[in-house]
Amino acid sequence: MQFSTLLSERSSIRRDELLQMAHSIAGIDAAHETRRFQLVEDSPFEIDRTRARILVVDDEPINVEVLVAYLEDEGYSNIISYTDSVSLLMQLETIDFDVVLMDLMMPRVSGLDLLQQIHDSRRLRHIPSIVLTASTDRSTKRKAIDLGAADFLCKPFDPEELLSRVQNALIRKAHLDRIQNDKLDLMQRVEQRTAELVSSQIQLIQCLGRAAEYRDNDTGKHVIRVGRFSAILAEELGLDPVTVQRIEMAATLHDIGKLGVPDTVLLKPGRLTEEEMACIRSHAALGKAIITAQEDNLSDLDGHPTYVSPLLTMAAVIAGSHHERWDGSGYPDKLSGENIPLEGRIVAVADVFDALTTERPYKKAFSIEESVSIIEKGSGTHFDPAVVNAFMNRLPEIRQVCLRYQDQAVPT
Ligand SMILES: [Fe+2]
Repeated sequence: MQFSTLLSERSSIRRDELLQMAHSIAGIDAAHETRRFQLVEDSPFEIDRTRARILVVDDEPINVEVLVAYLEDEGYSNIISYTDSVSLLMQLETIDFDVVLMDLMMPRVSGLDLLQQIHDSRRLRHIPSIVLTASTDRSTKRKAIDLGAADFLCKPFDPEELLSRVQNALIRKAHLDRIQNDKLDLMQRVEQRTAELVSSQIQLIQCLGRAAEYRDNDTGKHVIRVGRFSAILAEELGLDPVTVQRIEMAATLHDIGKLGVPDTVLLKPGRLTEEEMACIRSHAALGKAIITAQEDNLSDLDGHPTYVSPLLTMAAVIAGSHHERWDGSGYPDKLSGENIPLEGRIVAVADVFDALTTERPYKKAFSIEESVSIIEKGSGTHFDPAVVNAFMNRLPEIRQVCLRYQDQAVPT
């Protein structure tokens, strides 16, 4: 019953955090621009004229009036027109349109200037431009094409030809929008699936960590607290947010090796013999081996390389090094100082502090103050002094974690 209570408590408290964490670990940026397209469904050459947005600019009002009249007669009802190209230039980035019909020769801001602006804009550069000009100057036409002009119409233009070219430009734009939409949909689905996979991975790791803890502690909260303490210490030590989150998850598996320690030794209430102590201590190397076995299997049955999870890599490091001591008297490898991986030095403080403040079969719980004092005294011998400093700097949050995830009333 305690197990299911804990699961529901964890899921209700931290579901949002979990999803956010999954997105963060997977490197996902949630926000995406959505685009519209105007193709009539199942018809690749038919557009919805009531939705097509047409921008018209010509410094001659009569030319604009004629163009708008032709377009409206054809069924286009979403037309934005300008006779002042200066105003248009200033507002261009704020206007939504699917095609632009523009005069080339306009005072102050010419059609080429507008084309340049559209060409330089990431939002606008895929929108087709149809140039209306009386000029037959080849170099001007060449400049317009270089700036992305999709089509030319010579004044005076044939209305039928104009309408055909507008329709073709809109169909092209609609296809581009559809491709862009499909691409965005696919990206969102991939990202969602990636987040779900990362979230599953996190939950599986938490379950495994709890499974190991349930061997000798029936609350399952030790691994949660050690994870939280470790994250707080990692943050105080200046590690980046992704590494901080990874340490919190990986620390959950620090005692996974206890799964390989017999009950008769693990649950023995009295004093342990030297041989039994060695058996208990074997959980560090065993834990590392259990996790590393996954990493060694670097290809699947078809010979494809499998993904090596940075989270499991870190978990293996922590499982194998969380009982090393700064002065070299720890186990399993008697590493000392900075030869001990930083993650192991962090979890060492978190694990011992949690063991001190909670009741175990072989001891009563120490008060938080007594436990803090023991950690401080261990600085430079048992623990990395920098990690102990971080621990002292973040004592208020450490205390909050003790209270929030307590097994029972914490002595103060
Ligand atoms: Fe341990």
